[in-house]
Amino acid sequence: MAISSVWSFFFLFSLLLSHGVVEIEASHLVYTNLLSVQPTSENQPYRTSYHFQPPKNWMNDPNGPMIYKGIYHLFYQYNPYAAVWGNITWAHSTSTDLINWTPHDPAIYPSQQADIKGCWSGSATILPGDKPVILYTGIDPQNQQVQNLAVPKNLSDPFLREWVKSPKNPLMAPTPTNQINASSFRDPTTAWLGPDGRWRVIVGSKRHRRGFAILYRSKDFVRWTKAQHPLHSSKNTGMWECPDFFPVSTNSPIGVDTSVIGPSMKHVLKVSLDDTKHEYYTIGTYNLDKDTYIPDEGSVDNDSGLRYDYGKFYASKTFFDSAKDRRILWGWINESSSVAHDVQKGWSGIQAIPRALWLDKSGKQLVQWPIVEVEQLRMNQVNLPSTVLKVGSVLEVSGVTAAQADVEISFEIKEFEKAEVMDPSWSNPQVICSQKGASVKGGLGPFGLLAFASKDLQEYTAVFFRIFKGQDKYVVLMCSDQSRSSLDPDNDKTTYGAFLAVDPIHEKLSLRTLIDHSVVESFGGEGKTCITARVYPTLAIDEGARLYAFNNGTENVGISRLNAWSMKAAHIN
Ligand SMILES: *[C@@H]1O[C@H](CO)[C@@H](O)[C@H](O)[C@H]1NC(C)=O
Ligand SMILES: *[C@@H]1O[C@H](CO)[C@@H](O)[C@H](O)[C@H]1NC(C)=O
Ligand SMILES: *[C@@H]1O[C@H](CO)[C@@H](O)[C@H](O)[C@H]1NC(C)=O
Ligand SMILES: *[C@@H]1O[C@H](CO)[C@@H](O)[C@H](O)[C@H]1NC(C)=O
Ligand SMILES: *[C@@H]1O[C@H](CO)[C@@H](O)[C@H](O)[C@H]1NC(C)=O
Ligand SMILES: *[C@@H]1O[C@H](CO)[C@@H](O)[C@H](O)[C@H]1NC(C)=O
Repeated sequence: MAISSVWSFFFLFSLLLSHGVVEIEASHLVYTNLLSVQPTSENQPYRTSYHFQPPKNWMNDPNGPMIYKGIYHLFYQYNPYAAVWGNITWAHSTSTDLINWTPHDPAIYPSQQADIKGCWSGSATILPGDKPVILYTGIDPQNQQVQNLAVPKNLSDPFLREWVKSPKNPLMAPTPTNQINASSFRDPTTAWLGPDGRWRVIVGSKRHRRGFAILYRSKDFVRWTKAQHPLHSSKNTGMWECPDFFPVSTNSPIGVDTSVIGPSMKHVLKVSLDDTKHEYYTIGTYNLDKDTYIPDEGSVDNDSGLRYDYGKFYASKTFFDSAKDRRILWGWINESSSVAHDVQKGWSGIQAIPRALWLDKSGKQLVQWPIVEVEQLRMNQVNLPSTVLKVGSVLEVSGVTAAQADVEISFEIKEFEKAEVMDPSWSNPQVICSQKGASVKGGLGPFGLLAFASKDLQEYTAVFFRIFKGQDKYVVLMCSDQSRSSLDPDNDKTTYGAFLAVDPIHEKLSLRTLIDHSVVESFGGEGKTCITARVYPTLAIDEGARLYAFNNGTENVGISRLNAWSMKAAHIN
């Protein structure tokens, strides 16, 4: 059923192309007469079954995630009218397990001078006495970006359905003297409380090409004063969107509240770069005396730095889950399809499966893992006995619904002789992955998984490793190759890649991949490197999708463990 409707969808597209009703607007193809086509429920092979999304229309940044009276809240940037960005409000859903979600009416929408042209991203802070509040960016009548406060109308309502805006809004605004760029001043963080009893919050900004985290302080959360110095800034990074600043424990994966400051703590500053649509983070020290953040020696403090995710993942935000003492990361996963396709299907944007996040034992990077609650959706486990994945082999993992699955595989490498020598000029892992995709034979690797594979392997998304011989150690490369993900030429099929800090001689080389109709979310090395891709197969849809392990290197590799599960659909909105 779904497959035939997809084919009629492509038939419709080719008909349109042949009748030349395609216009080009702002580098996007716009199928003018499709703009009013209402999506039909059956024509939806790409809607996800367990990733968060609204029933229709546009979604981008996750906003103000929090837990209150045992209920998780997720707000998100939402256009109530269309599958493209615009008319942005804060939509709102709640959950008791972060997997199944109940929708509510929009929590924050334009209603004051201070936000009449839009209610953009922001964060929640839980004030003493268990009182949540929200700081968000409003667009005022002069198109200036300003920061506003909203508080719950009724704290006895565990769903916090209604929010009241401060009559004092805006609380932070560009003025003729404070040097803030009114078009580059947005996305306030969760605030933290200093030992001096004052709250601090940072807001993303830029001056010329320098990215800024502007610092504000307040005693009462209403009157905010801009600090002389930013918390941090970095040259050649452009506008910092959605900054996030939080402590991590140096000796435990347990998360801590945003205001915690102590001896066994480091701090993380993450920013989303408007210019490149990548995020990066540094690990460093929060200097309380100076109220500044200093990244650790050797941290790369620009677009070449560490990322939460080396694929599609943007505008992310963490919160402290006080019920389970963990820090949880939410991130927006954009589409890779054309705008016309988004309009045709009637929606755009999903959220990644929430991830627990903590500091790696090395202290040099973070580790992320899908929250344990997602495992409640697992069923019909398939377990493969350990086996050798011979050179050139493609091994089917049968018995799972391959378009809606969770798979964990561990590789064991005994022979390293054929590992190719790492060229010192190969500094950009994404470029290596693009040049050496799954179909380029190597020494040790490529080996990994083929997700969304069609029976004849005309389509597949390959998530794989290659191991190179570096100067004094083996270097592991992790790639997500979308080049053959779909016969439809109209999608962004960029290949992603990153290095993985695993020593393949002494550690197992593992990969976990969450597959959900149009998303492939992969965690290498137990969550040390994550890569998320959006794909739109035309053959490998629903029952047409298969899952394989493959080895296209010239050396056998062992599979020491392979577990795969079909995933139940979650109840989402
Ligand atoms: C949506 O935004 C556009 C452009 O800002 C505006 O013209 C239109 O009236 C808005 N639509 C609604 C229903 O508010
Ligand atoms: C506040 O919420 C509680 C729980 O939903 C409800 O019983 C009460 O009537 C609400 N109060 C007001 C003033 O709406
Ligand atoms: C202020 O921000 C706008 C929007 O990004 C930009 O065009 C302008 O150059 C910025 N001005 C300065 C001084 O950075
Ligand atoms: C990023 O930082 C690194 C190391 O600090 C530096 O070598 C590199 O040139 C920087 N990149 C850009 C684009 O500024
Ligand atoms: C969203 O995806 C499109 C198409 O791949 C890309 O051009 C755009 O930069 C992406 N935006 C973000 C915020 O990731
Ligand atoms: C393996 O490599 C061969 C030769 O380059 C290629 O034809 C084949 O498509 C590759 N297999 C996969 C799964 O990419």
